[in-house]
Amino acid sequence: MKTYRIAVIPGDGIGKEVVPAAIEVLNKAAALDGRFQFEWTTFPWGCDYYIETGKMMPDDGIELLKQYDQIFLGAVGMPELVPDHISLWGLLIKIRREMQQSINIRPAKLLQGLPSPLRQPHHFDFIVVRENSEGEYADIGGRLHSGQEEVAIQNAVFTRKGTERAIRYAFELAQSRRQHITSATKSNGITHSMPFWDEVFAQIGKEYPAIAQTSNHIDALAAFLVMKPESFDVIVASNLFGDILTDLGGAIMGSIGIAPAANLNIEGQYPSMFEPVHGSAPDIAGQGIANPIGQIWTGKMMIDFLGYPEVGTQILNAIETAFAQGIKTPDLGGTATLREVTDAVLHELT
Ligand code: NAD
Ligand code: IPM
Ligand code: MN
Repeated sequence: MKTYRIAVIPGDGIGKEVVPAAIEVLNKAAALDGRFQFEWTTFPWGCDYYIETGKMMPDDGIELLKQYDQIFLGAVGMPELVPDHISLWGLLIKIRREMQQSINIRPAKLLQGLPSPLRQPHHFDFIVVRENSEGEYADIGGRLHSGQEEVAIQNAVFTRKGTERAIRYAFELAQSRRQHITSATKSNGITHSMPFWDEVFAQIGKEYPAIAQTSNHIDALAAFLVMKPESFDVIVASNLFGDILTDLGGAIMGSIGIAPAANLNIEGQYPSMFEPVHGSAPDIAGQGIANPIGQIWTGKMMIDFLGYPEVGTQILNAIETAFAQGIKTPDLGGTATLREVTDAVLHELT
């Protein structure tokens, strides 16, 4: 039997609640399949660790993580205790960058048994490919002057390598799906990076003549995701645009608490990191009512990535069956607890 060694970082807030729940589901799915098992090693890194040690992770943390097959992370952030730019850049973004997890894939689809907040949704099923290493998240800029003259400058960086990598990945994904790609742009208002993004999209697009290619400004695209989400297959977006579109993707499914994600090192030299779209939700942490489905579905993506997509499908089927029975946490309008939702998914996984 194959054993996968997974580094687990529950992180902060509800991350500590949803990660153990998802691990129960993944262990059961693996045991039922019988071809593989997981060996989990938990690292207690996050804001509590920062308060104790002054660091979000130890200095050799990245080296430690490199020894694992994959990373399973909950969420990071306790903004009332540690400023977000310190906690996120010290752990989540640090791992994404140092492990060269340059592609973030984030699916959204209308699930059976779960009403969407949209009025009359047609079946939708799209994946956002988010550039995950640069763009608007480049750490370049600074503050000048003070008082009324104060200026804050933040530069966006779009390299040809990074832009081509994300766009090519998205075209390949579209080729394996419904042959339609949409590029999120804003070249009407942003004068350098976005025209460059459009150029690269058009250039790579020439290599894929069979794929239908659309470019939408990000503002219009956000509206289309509400009005006609069924018209999208693969959406490729810069780091910030992809971030925003994927909370929206979660919302039109029913809640950001169910939206999954994978930070991929597509070159395969480092582990990838599986981490849901949502954050640490300090407003509901510690109450046992967080929705575990985002983390469980993220675990399904890890199982798909490891090469067992039929096991992944069984997990998603169990989620849909649990929803169809009305077992939902409060973010979805239900009254079930995290424990009850997890038990329902475990029960349906047979
Ligand atoms: P958030 O995603 O944590 O919460 C936004 C809203 O969604 C809240 O009302 C929350 O209760 C709800 N929500 C989120 N996940 C839920 C779940 N699983 N079940 C039920 N409800 C859920 O976003 P935020 O409030 O902007 O950020 C809180 C903290 O998390 C900040 O420190 C932020 O930087 C951090 N954050 C971390 C990650 C990550 O580690 N991947 C992602 C996003 C935000
Ligand atoms: C996400 C989060 C992070 C991001 C934050 C917490 C830095 O919102 O993973 O979607 O913007 O990438
Ligand atoms: Mn986000």
